[in-house]
Amino acid sequence: MNSPNFATGIELKPIGQGFGCEVIGLDLSAPLPESDFARIRQAWYDHSFLVFRDLGMNPEQHIAFTRRLGPLHIMEREFNLPDHPEVMVIAKEERDGKPYGSRRVGLGWHSDGEDKRIPNAGSLLYGLTIPPEGGDTMFADMYAAYAALPQRLKRAIQGRRARFSRIDMHHVHYPDLPALTEAQKRDRPDVFHPLVRQHPRTGRSSLFVGRWARDVEGKPSEEGRVLMEELFAFAQNEAFTYRHRWRQNDAVLWDNRCMLHRAMGYDEERYVRHMHRTTIEGDVPRMAAPE
Ligand code: SIN
Repeated sequence: MNSPNFATGIELKPIGQGFGCEVIGLDLSAPLPESDFARIRQAWYDHSFLVFRDLGMNPEQHIAFTRRLGPLHIMEREFNLPDHPEVMVIAKEERDGKPYGSRRVGLGWHSDGEDKRIPNAGSLLYGLTIPPEGGDTMFADMYAAYAALPQRLKRAIQGRRARFSRIDMHHVHYPDLPALTEAQKRDRPDVFHPLVRQHPRTGRSSLFVGRWARDVEGKPSEEGRVLMEELFAFAQNEAFTYRHRWRQNDAVLWDNRCMLHRAMGYDEERYVRHMHRTTIEGDVPRMAAPE
C-alpha cells in the first residue's frame, strides 16, 4: 500500500482493533520534512499508538524525533543514559557489577505519570534487543472503554475524579522494594484526575483509570475502591486491547492521554531485553463535559 501523501515514501497500515497503526519506511538518518512529520503526528492522534519498523535509531535520533512532538520529560531515575538523560533504559543486565537499566518497569496496566499532577503525554519505546519469546507490551484503548461503559457506570463517574496514590499502592505494586521514606512520600503526594478525560488534541472522551488509582473523590473510601476495581477490570477487556510482539528495531509511540499499557514478563534468566524510552511532557488532565 503506497501512501501518496508522504513526500518520503512512508506508508501507514492500520493494526489493532480500531486503534493503532504501523508506520513503514521512516528513515531517521535523513531529514524528515515538516509535512511528513505533521502526518505522522496526526496519525498518532488518530490511531493513539504507532508502530515503527526497522528504525535502527541511535539515542540522538530518538531524542530529536520525540522532541518534535513536545518537550521531553526527564525521568527521575538513576537509569537514564549518562550522556542522554532524556533516554530511560529498561534492562535487567549489569555492567561493571552495577545495573545500567531499570528492570520490571510497567508490569501492571498504567499510563506514564498517571500518579503525578501532570501526567506524560506520550512515550516512544525502542527495542534494541528483544527476547525470542515473551516481553510483549500490551495496549488498551480508553476511548473504546469509555464508549462501551454501561450507562450505570457512566453516571457513577460523571464529573468525578479518582485519587491516584503512590503512597497507598507502593507496597501493592512493589512488594519486594523497601517502604517509601517520609521524604519520598512528600515528593509523591496523592493526585486527583478526572475519571472521564477530554483529550486536549482530539477532544474525545476516554476513561482515565490505572494501577495507581485507588478510590473516588467525594465517595466513601470503600465504595470508591469497589467502583475503581470495577472500572479497572472493565478497561482491561480484550475487546479494547492489542498485544505488541516486538521485533528488533521496532519503536512504539503511544498516547498516554487515551491509552493504558503494560509490560509482559519474560524469562530473565535466559534472555536479554534491552529497551530505550523517551517520554513527552503532558498537561493537567481536563474533565470531559457530560454527554
Ligand atoms: C513502560 O511501561 O514504559 C515499559 C513497557 C515495556 O517495557 O514493555
